[in-house]
Amino acid sequence: MQVFTSVASLQAFLQSARSRNSSVGFVPTMGALHDGHLALVRAARAGSELVVASIFVNPTQFNDAADLEQYPRTEERDRKLLAAEGCDALFLPGVAEIYPNGTNTATPIDLMGLDQPMEGAKRPGHFAGVVQVVERLLRIVKPDHLYMGQKDFQQTAIVRRLIEARGLAVDLRIEPTVREADGLAMSSRNVRLPPEHRPHATLLYETLHRAKTLKGVLSPPELERLALWQLTEHGFRPEYFKIVDAKTLRELATFEESDFPVACTAVWVGAVRLIDNLFL
Ligand code: PAF
Repeated sequence: MQVFTSVASLQAFLQSARSRNSSVGFVPTMGALHDGHLALVRAARAGSELVVASIFVNPTQFNDAADLEQYPRTEERDRKLLAAEGCDALFLPGVAEIYPNGTNTATPIDLMGLDQPMEGAKRPGHFAGVVQVVERLLRIVKPDHLYMGQKDFQQTAIVRRLIEARGLAVDLRIEPTVREADGLAMSSRNVRLPPEHRPHATLLYETLHRAKTLKGVLSPPELERLALWQLTEHGFRPEYFKIVDAKTLRELATFEESDFPVACTAVWVGAVRLIDNLFL
């Protein structure tokens, strides 16, 4: 695996690879890799001739300085994991390489309200930062396929909109959430879960599952109220539990309103914030 820290060196490498007609699969990450990321690299390996990953802890998508500060950084380990999965190129830029003209340079796009509910409401400015960095990375790497995980469901909907709005020639591939044996969705933040809270964390997935089994018995607002009560009973501090249409992210009053309902939730366990979702 070759490692590039500058845009120029990565692009020179990619230009030469493309002259051999290689299709490029791209996996953007913020590092602290876990099996969910590695599943994306494996999917890219299976679907593209050349696999590029990036590790960049993007400051513009953190609305909380302490969260940015505490975000786990495990670069040496990440490099080894990526190399072992057959990643061809790792892009490891610094802030100046991604934002040479400063961070206040984003050209806004109409996200059609996708950035308003759920994570958007709880983390103001987060998606503007995600859109800014993903667009920059896509313009640098120019991949044929972009691989992202379903765990960040709202993010995938927003990136799909970014690609459409900017007319970018990239095929977005969403891979299923990878879970621990007990159902907890893999996340870089899981390492910060205090051991006494870890057994509890699985109840998040159970609550999503219960909503799925009760679909048709209860309406979306009733399921939301039940889930919020259950999460609180389990010792979580829920921020939201919403049942929305997978395409528009609009909240549903009835299941007849959507062919693809999805339940999305964010909770606090101690000082750690977890998100998860499940297609209903
Ligand atoms: O999902 C993430 O890790 C980040 O939001 C992403 C897509 C790499 C952009 O910084």
